Amino acid sequence: MFYKFLIKPVFFILDAEFVHNSITFAGKLLGSFSFTKDFTKNLLYFSDKKLEQKIAGIKFDNPIGLSAGFDYNAELTQILPSVGFGFETVGTITNIPYEGNPKPRLGRLPKSKSLLVNKGFKSEGVDEVIKKLKRLRFEIPIGLSVGRSNSATLKTIEESIGDIIESFKKFEAAKLATAYYELNISCPNLIHGGKNITFYPPKNLEKLLAKIDKLNLKKPLFIKMPITEPNLATEKMLDTIVKYKVSGVIFGNLQKDRTNPTLDKAEVAAATAGNFSGVPCRARSNELIALAYKKYGKKLVIVGCGGVFDARDAYEKIKLGASLVMMITGMIYEGPQLIGRINKDLVRLLHEDGYKNNSEAVGAYNQI
Ligand SMILES: Cc1cc2nc3c(=O)[nH]c(=O)nc-3n(C[C@H](O)[C@H](O)[C@H](O)COP(=O)(O)O)c2cc1C
Repeated sequence: MFYKFLIKPVFFILDAEFVHNSITFAGKLLGSFSFTKDFTKNLLYFSDKKLEQKIAGIKFDNPIGLSAGFDYNAELTQILPSVGFGFETVGTITNIPYEGNPKPRLGRLPKSKSLLVNKGFKSEGVDEVIKKLKRLRFEIPIGLSVGRSNSATLKTIEESIGDIIESFKKFEAAKLATAYYELNISCPNLIHGGKNITFYPPKNLEKLLAKIDKLNLKKPLFIKMPITEPNLATEKMLDTIVKYKVSGVIFGNLQKDRTNPTLDKAEVAAATAGNFSGVPCRARSNELIALAYKKYGKKLVIVGCGGVFDARDAYEKIKLGASLVMMITGMIYEGPQLIGRINKDLVRLLHEDGYKNNSEAVGAYNQI
């Protein structure tokens, strides 16, 4: 109530990127002292054994994670456990630092329960992020999202692969206490490097994954997938992915389709460059979770992401086949107490359905 009726109305009249930066600053400060962490934990945190799972060799206290894009420069790893998140992906981080696409980079579509995102991998770069993470220990599993640098210097697929490999090599050499990697091949906002540099065609994806395989990464790798490709193209990408050392796939990234029925027409007409998060991602994310689970649920961990605003949204993704669920936009609209509430309500939903643990509900709609 406090967030929704007092804080959010003020936030929503200020510039969205300014608010994001201010929240990050406050979160970093709160994460710097044990008494502020404890205070936050007392207010927001919820835990229950029913939510604990071991996935890809990693222990997760609960299945709700912060998705890539919110903590893109690794400032919040110390406060997010107190907020109640079960895990977090930092990034997307790129080898070459990038100041972000021309402003505006972030907008709000309140009627559509969505954000307009046009960051294009604003990143301090791998080297800076390593410096920050090197001295830290983590209470929850932290993932590193790696993407192709948004740089005009990368003109070919081969150069782009080289750039991504360079990032992985640097992270591996740094021996950070992080838990997993996320390979982001699905950012729709890259303006440099040419539109032809995409890893959606299986031929290009093969080249990339073959090179990554050779690195023998020490941590599990997840791939952040697009929700904008048709089913057949997505299946072909999955057919390629299962041939390599990939632990799982995340469905998925932002919605590109400006005719999506959940988008308010007037809000879309006013929207500048960028793509949409939140409710417009939800239905397609759910379809692709089900598709991936039915086809490769035994080989790949499926992670759901897109349009989670409450426990029912998260539970729907879990029953469709997601072992873990990630989110950003729901938290921005509902407030930081949402994470604890989702976890609490999730325990109730699991109990009502007679499940002793979240893992028993995974894929309940699509038994394989
Ligand atoms: C402000 C913002 C920045 C984002 N940046 C990234 C990014 O750098 N890398 C990435 O993989 N996804 C990024 N995304 C996409 C989210 O991780 C997520 O896939 C998408 O927003 C759907 O989830 P949501 O509806 O819970 O926000 C971003 C989303 C937002 C809202």
